[in-house]
Amino acid sequence: MISWRKHYKRGLIAIGLLLSTSASIYAQGDAKNGEKLFKANCTACHALDKQLVGPALGGIVDLIKKEQNLDTDWLHKWIKDNKALRASGDKYANEIFEKFNKTEMTAFPNLTDQEIDDILAYTSNPPAPEPAAEATGAGAADTNSVAALEAAKMQSMNSKIILLSLLAIGGLLIWLLLKLKQLVKLQQTDELTGLNATRAVSFGDLYRKYDYIGKGILVLLGIFAAYGLWNWLMWIGVYKGYKPEQPIYFSHKIHAGENKIDCQLCHSSAKYGKVSEIPSMNVCMNCHRTISEYNGKYMEPGKDKAFYDGEIQKIYAATGWDPSSQKYTGKTQPVEWTRIHNMPDFVYFNHAQHVVAGEQAILNSYNQKNPNAKIDVVCKACHGQVDTMNVVQMANDFTMGWCIECHRTTEVDMNNGYNKEYFKNLHDKLKKQYGSGAKITVDAIGGLECGKCHY
Ligand code: HEC
Ligand code: HEC
Ligand code: HEC
Ligand code: HEC
Ligand code: HEC
Ligand code: HEC
Repeated sequence: MISWRKHYKRGLIAIGLLLSTSASIYAQGDAKNGEKLFKANCTACHALDKQLVGPALGGIVDLIKKEQNLDTDWLHKWIKDNKALRASGDKYANEIFEKFNKTEMTAFPNLTDQEIDDILAYTSNPPAPEPAAEATGAGAADTNSVAALEAAKMQSMNSKIILLSLLAIGGLLIWLLLKLKQLVKLQQTDELTGLNATRAVSFGDLYRKYDYIGKGILVLLGIFAAYGLWNWLMWIGVYKGYKPEQPIYFSHKIHAGENKIDCQLCHSSAKYGKVSEIPSMNVCMNCHRTISEYNGKYMEPGKDKAFYDGEIQKIYAATGWDPSSQKYTGKTQPVEWTRIHNMPDFVYFNHAQHVVAGEQAILNSYNQKNPNAKIDVVCKACHGQVDTMNVVQMANDFTMGWCIECHRTTEVDMNNGYNKEYFKNLHDKLKKQYGSGAKITVDAIGGLECGKCHY
């Protein structure tokens, strides 16, 4: 394993060297910074290796030189303002615009020449990815680490469990076959000696009898396998405790705890939709335009005022705010928070369903189940005591089993406006079915239906 990794790393370095010599025609830019800029501005429409909304941009500098005899000047003009370039009558600019069915590319007048050089350096010579396992510490805080962690966990779990179940099922089947064969053999000899005797039971009768037993065992095995598979699916991918480093040391304890800032001031979309989003830097600036240093009483052990002040400065670097002149310079730097919670694409989870429609039900049920640790804010039922965390971490498993367990045990609040309207008929039916005093839990309104949570 270790030696493999070494080779892998060496291989990467070799590939990197190869690339850097072949692509050194274009080495004015800083590819690392280019990558950041590219991810922030271009990935909505471009990839390096394939066409998305716009063409693939890997090796674009060389390509354009070879095929159109255009140099980087053209690329600068195009990226800054492709519309103006087209309007100037530039032949290739109009050609490619036509070729992409006149899809407008965004203009980027804010990108400096250096930044464009960086992006182009990245497209010519993308830095080799650091192997995830090596990137402990600060380097680990990149967006890929969630996926890597997930993939690694899934892979090892999956392969182990599949292998074990296959082995077990295979073993059982072989045993079964041998047993059946033995029985049939036994029967055959019995049959031969008994042929001239009583003929009380025919071979056929016995075969049928054992055949049924065999089928019965197979069905049982099938049920066992299905049950095992189901359990496995229910509790796969346990992420509890996942806690990546973030680009700015933002403390929920200081904001939501010490300063009692409401969760929804920052995560405002939780109320309205599917996602609850990380606030944009503008939200931070609402307060930090004036709060430029940390003067709070609370200090996390190991941190001091200078550290917190430095972190606040990062907000200014990101938004291009110059605190001395109290003006925006226009030079922004995207902050890439690492997502902590991230359901697979095939899962549909909607915050509004839980934070608005389900709020009272979840609060009541949670506080009943945890009389010693009652919560006041619905978010905490799933995300834990975020207002005590300096660094947010996953407070629950966030598996399918976790969702379903809560749906099985949480009584729906049939009296809130939303449900009263939405489930009117259903409610009457349920009352008839379960009696008017019975608990109606989320599963009764469809909370266990596959289609409700899966696309
Ligand atoms: C909103 C979508 C969109 C975004 C964002 C975008 N592009 Fe484009 N880009 C396009 C489309 C579409 C084309 C094809 C030409 C056309 O239709 O205008 C294109 C063409 C290009 C070309 C010409 C490629 C060729 O084969 O000649 C370059 C270079 C380019 N984009 C660079 C960038 C860079 C760098 C960024 C980020 C700073 C960026 N684009 C962001 C949509 C986009
Ligand atoms: C002042 C703004 C602010 C407030 C108030 C705030 N948050 Fe956050 N929250 C953030 C930022 C910024 C991040 C991303 C950085 C991080 O993970 O710490 C975040 C991240 C999170 C995450 C992890 C998101 C992910 O990546 O999956 C959760 C969960 C969360 N907040 C819940 C809460 C809860 C619950 C409250 C109220 C108790 C709250 N937040 C209050 C700004 C805020
Ligand atoms: C509602 C006002 C408000 C908003 C919005 C807000 N902050 Fe703060 N922030 C504060 C207060 C208050 C302090 C503590 C100042 C003190 O006690 O002197 C603070 C302190 C900080 C600190 C130093 C302590 C720590 O948490 O590490 C950082 C860094 C910080 N904020 C970053 C952010 C970021 C990033 C955002 C946007 C996601 C943000 N803040 C949004 C009010 C806010
Ligand atoms: C019923 C459980 C539940 C409740 C209640 C809940 N969340 Fe979440 N939250 C989740 C799940 C599940 C995800 C992951 C969603 C995904 O990846 O699609 C998530 C993700 C997030 C994220 C990451 C960004 C995103 O939307 O994926 C933030 C931020 C967040 N929640 C904040 C909040 C806040 C603030 C509240 C309270 C107003 C809240 N949540 C209430 C379960 C919950
Ligand atoms: C803390 C308890 C709790 C957890 C955990 C939870 N839910 Fe729910 N969920 C509820 C409640 C309560 C409702 C009913 C809301 C209402 O009154 O309409 C609900 C409703 C739903 C509905 C709508 C059902 C319907 O028939 O309209 C979906 C879909 C859903 N949840 C998905 C999820 C997913 C996906 C997860 C896990 C990622 C999850 N929930 C985790 C409590 C929870
Ligand atoms: C209350 C919401 C909910 C319901 C109902 C639900 N699922 Fe899921 N399911 C999830 C979530 C959340 C995940 C992702 C878990 C994870 O990432 O660990 C998931 C994952 C899965 C997976 C992939 C396994 C994995 O984790 O990669 C399969 C397959 C699946 N569900 C099948 C079903 C089937 C079949 C049903 C109906 C009998 C069903 N689900 C009902 C929430 C739900």
